[in-house]
Amino acid sequence: MDASKAIAVLTANPEADAEILFTDPSAKALPVVEIPTTAGTGSEVTQYAILTLHEKRTKSGIMQPVFAAVSFLDPKYMDTLSAKVTNNTAVDAMSHLVESYLSANANTVSEKIVAMGLSYWKECIPALKAREYTPEVREKLMLASTIGGVAIAQTSTSIPHALGYFLTYEKQIPHGRANGMVMQAYMELFGKDNQKVKEVLGYLGLETTEDMGQLMKDVLDISETFTAEDIAYYAKRSMENPKKLATFPEYGLEEKDILEVYRKSLL
Ligand SMILES: [Fe+2]
Repeated sequence: MDASKAIAVLTANPEADAEILFTDPSAKALPVVEIPTTAGTGSEVTQYAILTLHEKRTKSGIMQPVFAAVSFLDPKYMDTLSAKVTNNTAVDAMSHLVESYLSANANTVSEKIVAMGLSYWKECIPALKAREYTPEVREKLMLASTIGGVAIAQTSTSIPHALGYFLTYEKQIPHGRANGMVMQAYMELFGKDNQKVKEVLGYLGLETTEDMGQLMKDVLDISETFTAEDIAYYAKRSMENPKKLATFPEYGLEEKDILEVYRKSLL
């Protein structure tokens, strides 16, 4: 779906080269129809298109906001998804909802939207743990994903996405899974007894950030290993994305804070 948005810009501007995706925010796009085949990205309702940029060794969004002209949602396209892809993408949807809720860009309306999305996601937790998905669960995961898209279309994503992109580029860790791997430590950046962290955990039926960490372990079967050099590199690279870092509301995050998130999550 993200590729189709970039292709829609390039096709509408046949004389331009691919650079236009990162230089001209007002470039027009052809209309796009989007049909999600995973329940994760929410791209069918966002303006974002995230591309892998090999020259920068990371992923980055195109400048043009391209909303789909039409989106079709039908969970039957997810019937045959493997448990791995289902759970990794489900965690992407959850991370959109949680990051939106905790973002400096959140507002009363986006928070209510998140609460609705997380109520669907919460109902899917037993199925995600058991790796058994009824049609009803598939539908709820799809709704949670689309609602997550609606939320991040307003607030954008936040720190787990900024940090996860390097895990995906350097270690080929699927995107949602990468977000899930840093989720507990991200929430702990807010300090103990943060009201919004408590609220968002509550929407998922969780009490503590440790509960979130355990949930991610249960749902993702995390087994990847990293070195101190790996995480030092990722922390350094994360500082190149000040716009994303600015979505963290409490104070200006420094490289040592990011390194601590990676250390707690990956070592
Ligand atoms: Fe995502």
